[in-house]
Amino acid sequence: MRILVVGGGGREHALCWAISASPLCTKLFCAPGNAGIAQVAECLDVAAEDVAGQVALAQREKIDFVVVGPEVPLSMGLADRLAEAGIKVFGPSQKAAQIESSKGFTKDLCKKHGIPTGAYERFTDADKAIAYIEAQGAPIVVKADGLAAGKGVVVAETVEQAVAAVRDMLSGNRFGEAGASVVIEEFLVGEEASFFALCDGHNVLPLVGAQDHKRVFDGDKGPNTGGMGAYSPAPVFDATMQQRALDEIILPTVRGMEAAGMPFKGVLYAGLMITAQGPKIFEYNCRFGDPECQVLMMRLKSDILPALIACADGGLNHLDLRWSADTALTVVMAAKGYPDAYQKGSAIRGLDEAGKVEGVQVFHAGTKPGPDGAVLANGGRVLNVTAMAPTVEQARERAYQAVDRIDWPEGFCRRDIAWRAVGRRS
Ligand code: AMP
Ligand code: GLY
Repeated sequence: MRILVVGGGGREHALCWAISASPLCTKLFCAPGNAGIAQVAECLDVAAEDVAGQVALAQREKIDFVVVGPEVPLSMGLADRLAEAGIKVFGPSQKAAQIESSKGFTKDLCKKHGIPTGAYERFTDADKAIAYIEAQGAPIVVKADGLAAGKGVVVAETVEQAVAAVRDMLSGNRFGEAGASVVIEEFLVGEEASFFALCDGHNVLPLVGAQDHKRVFDGDKGPNTGGMGAYSPAPVFDATMQQRALDEIILPTVRGMEAAGMPFKGVLYAGLMITAQGPKIFEYNCRFGDPECQVLMMRLKSDILPALIACADGGLNHLDLRWSADTALTVVMAAKGYPDAYQKGSAIRGLDEAGKVEGVQVFHAGTKPGPDGAVLANGGRVLNVTAMAPTVEQARERAYQAVDRIDWPEGFCRRDIAWRAVGRRS
């Protein structure tokens, strides 16, 4: 099969790495890709958000199957346009992608089907939203309804902060259309876990859980980011929690989407809070997590491609995936300044040496090829240094050993990835 992966981050590098190992894959393209992806796929210069460009590319290259990495093209209808063109695709329709692109849509779905989540209300009027916040008190969470590149959620510790966030979104037009409607949600107390399930619209194949590190600095300090590191398995998300999340959250969601006439096909990413009462959902995403996908692909022993194809074709109930019992851990190396302004174009050295550490794969998240084989930083999150080992402590040691072989003065990383798991054991 001729395969096209849409996107150019660390998630897409991990997907390309896994797909390129499949005997079913005869030719792999990635658009736009990056310098690391170029080692396993032919990269073509079409932006992920260029829906018409991606469809034209798939037609021109006679692609049999497209795997869409990021949420933005899905929310713009890329899967629908590909399907109309007769091209098989991994990823939900625009309607089903609302599970990520509208927080209000998802909250209403949860309410309708009794899926455990925080109490909430939706508002378009600032005065009404503020009255609700004052009645509820703090801490409380304010969310822009639409996609806001991970910046549309304010976890407010005081009523004043929550009110300021509402004003910013509803009156100040902070996120434009995405912030014209807000969800105000109960603050959930617990440890977070990310859980993933493949769906073919009807059947569900659970994958495994992971834990992300959303804050930029050690000790979970500083602003939220797309994720500074992840590991899998996460002790907080044990077999009991996984079964509960599947039965109480994922399955009713997939049934609810099917009943609503928008069957979900692709990977459902549940952002869970493991509370004293059990797992509660605080967000859904309609794609793999980044950087969670990187640790999932490391642990996956089976060929991923038949499972991705079954999401489009149906029959996921006939598939089974095998996972390594080892821990996979990834450290994100980002450009100094991220998640605010940062510079592009600095040279990264030592990647080959880093890749020689036992059990290590260095996925590229934001790089581009430079002259004479150089690798240049080309984004906020730049590298995902990923390691596998029998224990989380060993995986962490290997990952940081590889990080220390990378010569990139313009970058930084957290030094405490998986601290919750390491702390729990010792
Ligand atoms: P999101 O952009 O939806 O991933 O949310 C960003 C972060 O906000 C999450 O990773 C959580 O740490 C936090 N968060 C979101 N919703 C809640 C909630 N209801 N209670 C507590 N924390 C939340
Ligand atoms: N790592 C968080 C996300 O992919 O949304």
